[in-house]
Amino acid sequence: MNNLLYYYSLSFYVCFILSSNCPDGPAIMTVLSLFPTGGEERPLEGLYLGLNLHRQAEDGDLLIYSNYISSLDGRISLTLDHSGESQVPEAIINGRDWRLYQELAAQSDVMITSARYFRQLAKGQAQDLLPVGQEPAYADLNGWRESEGLKAQPDVVIISNSLDIPVGSLAVLKGRRILIFTGKHAEASKVDRLEAAGAELFVMDGPEVSGAALKAVLIALGYRSAYMIAGPLVHRTLIADRVLNLLFLTTRLRLIGGAGFDTILGGDIGGAVEMHLRSLYLDRNASNAQFFAQYALQQG
Ligand SMILES: NC(=O)c1ccc[n+]([C@@H]2O[C@H](COP(=O)([O-])OP(=O)(O)OC[C@H]3O[C@@H](n4cnc5c(N)ncnc54)[C@H](OP(=O)(O)O)[C@@H]3O)[C@@H](O)[C@H]2O)c1
Repeated sequence: MNNLLYYYSLSFYVCFILSSNCPDGPAIMTVLSLFPTGGEERPLEGLYLGLNLHRQAEDGDLLIYSNYISSLDGRISLTLDHSGESQVPEAIINGRDWRLYQELAAQSDVMITSARYFRQLAKGQAQDLLPVGQEPAYADLNGWRESEGLKAQPDVVIISNSLDIPVGSLAVLKGRRILIFTGKHAEASKVDRLEAAGAELFVMDGPEVSGAALKAVLIALGYRSAYMIAGPLVHRTLIADRVLNLLFLTTRLRLIGGAGFDTILGGDIGGAVEMHLRSLYLDRNASNAQFFAQYALQQG
């Protein structure tokens, strides 16, 4: 997300906070519950924070959850003509979804992302997605983390086979543990360079990172909740090994089209995975009509 998109999402959030001066009239402060209970109005703020995802894993286990915003025609990103890079479509970004993104981040011990994100960040083509509550509107989440005994900011996992990770882009993670997972063909010189920059490298036995191995390492390191914010390939990595527990999916009620795009999942996952709807909310805000859904994945 570039700066323009960042300000776009921020302005929607400010609009939401002020509950006035919105392009389509005053913002509605609540969302309508459709499942499991229908017809109940719930405040948007706190909708996901109350889930206590950091306390859901049994002792010695880890809860892994992902989150996407998609258009009604299934697009989570579009490829930009001029650069060939992909980005979250401007037409679906909005501050109400971003509030929930932040609430999910607030409940994580560690965030899982891809090397691609850091490559885009280094080119100035990505918003800083990793810190919780840097803007005043999310300051409550920092206080919440402290009161829950969580570290000020979640640690960060980066998944990469190429290890093409601009070292300078890691500076945004100052003070946080950086764990880089890679396949067995990793170039030693790149491993050394990233370790010298303060990252911890985990070289897998297989040619690429497996979801099962990633989860095992994170459990051994004592993590209890992991928030996956990467795209369809990292998602596949987790789902193929059935280690993803929850999917949060915002569906913005817009058709956007576009030829080059990503959906929430890419590649083979070894057969269909049953998804159990846990909650569904309708956000009727005139500027941001969307569904907020939470699914549990069938395990095993
Ligand atoms: N709308 C939304 O909610 C949403 C959310 C997330 C992302 N997105 C968008 O989706 C697009 C793609 O995102 P992304 O590139 O982060 O996602 P991705 O397709 O999941 O990840 C791509 C990179 O991750 C590494 N990777 C993935 N699986 C791996 C494995 N098993 N082993 C080793 N490395 C692995 C590879 O890095 P190397 O090339 O370094 O080997 C790969 O190039 C972007 O435009 C992003 O903005 C949208």
